[in-house]
Formats: sequence, structure tokens, C-alpha cells
Amino acid sequence: MNSLHNTNYYLQLEEKYGAHNYHPLPVVLKKGKGIYVWDIEDKKYFDFLSGYSAVNQGHCHPAIIKALQSQAEILTLTSRAFHNDLLGEYEKFITDYFGYDKVLPMNTGVEGGETAIKLARRWGYTKKGIEENKAVIVFAEGNFWGRTMSAISSSTDPSSYKNFGPFMPGFEIVPYNNLSALEISFQNKNVAGFMFEPIQGEAGVIVPDEGYLAGIRNLCTKYNVLMIADEIQTGLSRTGKLLACDHELAKPDILILGKALSGGTLPISAVLCNDEIMLTIQPGEHGSTYGGNPLACAVAMAALSVLKDEKLDENAEKMGKLFREKLSAIKSPYISCIRGRGLLNAIEIKHSEPNAAWELCLILKNNGLLAKPTHGDKIRFAPPLIIQENEITEAVDIIQKSLETFK
Ligand SMILES: Cc1ncc(COP(=O)(O)O)c(C=O)c1O
Repeated sequence: MNSLHNTNYYLQLEEKYGAHNYHPLPVVLKKGKGIYVWDIEDKKYFDFLSGYSAVNQGHCHPAIIKALQSQAEILTLTSRAFHNDLLGEYEKFITDYFGYDKVLPMNTGVEGGETAIKLARRWGYTKKGIEENKAVIVFAEGNFWGRTMSAISSSTDPSSYKNFGPFMPGFEIVPYNNLSALEISFQNKNVAGFMFEPIQGEAGVIVPDEGYLAGIRNLCTKYNVLMIADEIQTGLSRTGKLLACDHELAKPDILILGKALSGGTLPISAVLCNDEIMLTIQPGEHGSTYGGNPLACAVAMAALSVLKDEKLDENAEKMGKLFREKLSAIKSPYISCIRGRGLLNAIEIKHSEPNAAWELCLILKNNGLLAKPTHGDKIRFAPPLIIQENEITEAVDIIQKSLETFK
């Protein structure tokens, strides 16, 4: 059924009553199923953003929705003041699934990052022997892990940090994809951890050279520094493996997950590591009211099961290859670069107009495909991982047609 109001009505409501902290495409969605979303005028679109990779399993996946609905009728929140009958089950499930001793459940991705940093600092003081308040966490240039004060303190993007200081001390930046610079930074004995994205998503799907992830693993081991992988966007089958670090068999000491851990239904994040790190935090030293709630536990187990049951890693690998192949066959003067892994891909737009990528996204929208520019001239293409060959073909046809009308 069509909505009572038109698109402008909803845009104006948000403009008037909501903070202006986002700049969405002018489309108002009301429904999602699988790889598609529908706007209020019943126009259907390919969703090539997937809620910034939260909807890997596809919109409203029946198994995830079933878990959500049935648990919602029984028990949703106990807080951690009491035990609940799903938390332990979920903790066993997810630690077996990823091969770690323990998990610390949180809600948003950025809370996962904050948790990992607290764990690394605590480990640094109590295990590595770093002098109190001297711990350093190293980050890579171009990183993005959210919007809290810590996250923006490690950011190299002025639109994230400008006029929000003073910033969190004890953070250091090295260039991404540069093992020599990383090794130099690790010579400081106060370095407790290196937190990085295996592919930098928000920076525009920056894929490091082969060997970078294994190189990080080696250096972290050599210098007794914790390897902290932020797999919030790259994890959960998005890049063609369960984790992007799996491409180089590089197992992080601390693994941060979020987004698709709920298949786009609830904010659920998790930090996984072994006892030597996790048990440095004692009761009362970290937590969250909603972290580990029974509803989230039920949903996360369902969301993780879907990844394996439907072999979404294999599909992402296959469809990603096909997508890049088909995209490369498009002859357009406006594409300067195509890159990605699995179904986390991006193109760079070559154009004299600075907002050309935005303009192209508007044309894509009109032609039935939703994608969003990142960092000015880049467009990320990240559909749900359930996409099939004929749908890739159709989507690439839309991209080609849009580029043909683009001036
Ligand atoms: C790599 C990465 N880490 C962390 C986050 C933050 O997650 P959230 O927005 O759920 O706090 C994001 C969000 O885009 C991300 O891409």
C-alpha cells in the first residue's frame, strides 16, 4: 500500500526535528526483503549498502526474524545483575564458532572498539608490565571505528575530529598497509595493541597488499603487542571468508564483531579473546545495560547460523568476483578504479565536479539501485551476501546504464 505522505513530507520531518548529523540520499524506505528495499511509493531497489554491511544475511531473514519474535515474547532484558538462560549458551556458541576462550558482549560496534582498547590497556599494565598510564594503542591512518570520543581521537579525518577536542591520549597513528612503519612504532615498549581494519571500509574499501595481515600477526607476536582486528564491517562472510583475517590465516588476539552479528535487527557487538586478556577485567570494571541481553543472544546465534547454513562466505567470494569482472567490462571514462574483496567493493569516480559520486548515486537511485558515496569520490557496493548471479547481472546493467547518462 502506498504511504499517506510523499517523500518530501518525511524529508522535512527529519530536517526539522532530527539532528543534522547525516546526509542521506533523498529516498524514504518502508520495507525490505532479501537484497531489496522498497520506498514509500512502492518503488523497488537493489540495496547495495546493506546497512553498512549489517544486513549480510539479507533484509528480514526469516530465521533471524523467527528467533527475534519468539525470544521477544519470552524474555528480552535482565541486565547483567542476574543471569539469564541464553547468555551462557550464546557465549559457548560464539566462542566455539570463532575459536576463542571468551566473549564480552556489547551493543554497537563502537562499544566493541572501546572494549577492545580497555582490554588491551589493562593487559598492557597487568601482563606486559607497561608503567601505569603510559600504554599506547597504535591505529592506522584512515581508520574508522565510530563516533565516540576515543574513536574520533584516533581518526585522521578532520570531519570526524575537528572542534571536538581535547582528545584521548595514548593513541598513535601509522600509515595503513605499511609494515616497516608498524615495526618502528612497536619498538616503543609501551605499545599494548595495534587496532586495525583488515580492509578499510569507510575510507573507501582500501584493500591492503597481500601479506599485510600475516605481517601484522608476525610483528605483534615478535614485539608482544596485541593484534586487535576490527572486523565489524569486514567480518561475518562479507569479504568471502568468515573473517577477512582468514584470507591470510592471521588470527587476531582480540576480535571485534558487530553489524551483521544481528543481521540488521538489533545493535549487537562482541569482543572475543583468550583468558589471558579477558580475565584481566573484573566485575564492575566494564559492561553495559543491554550487553548480553537474551534477545540479542537468540538473534546473534540465529544470525551466525545463517552464515554457515547458507555458505554465505562462498557466495560472497563467487559473486564478488563476478561483480568486479562485470564492472571491469564497463567502458566508462568516469571509473578510475575498481577494487574490493568478496562483496565489499568500491569504485572511484574520476570527474571534475567534486560531488560527482553523489550525483551518480542519485542516478543509480532513479534507476533502482541504492549506494552511498564515501569520502567524496568513492562509491561502495556491498549488497547482501545472498545475492545471485542473475541479480548481479541486473545490478551491473543498472550501473552501466547510469554511467551512460552521467555527464
Ligand atoms: C570498521 C568499523 N568499525 C566500527 C564501526 C562502528 O560501528 P557502530 O556504528 O555500530 O558503532 C563501523 C561502522 O561503520 C565500522 O565500519
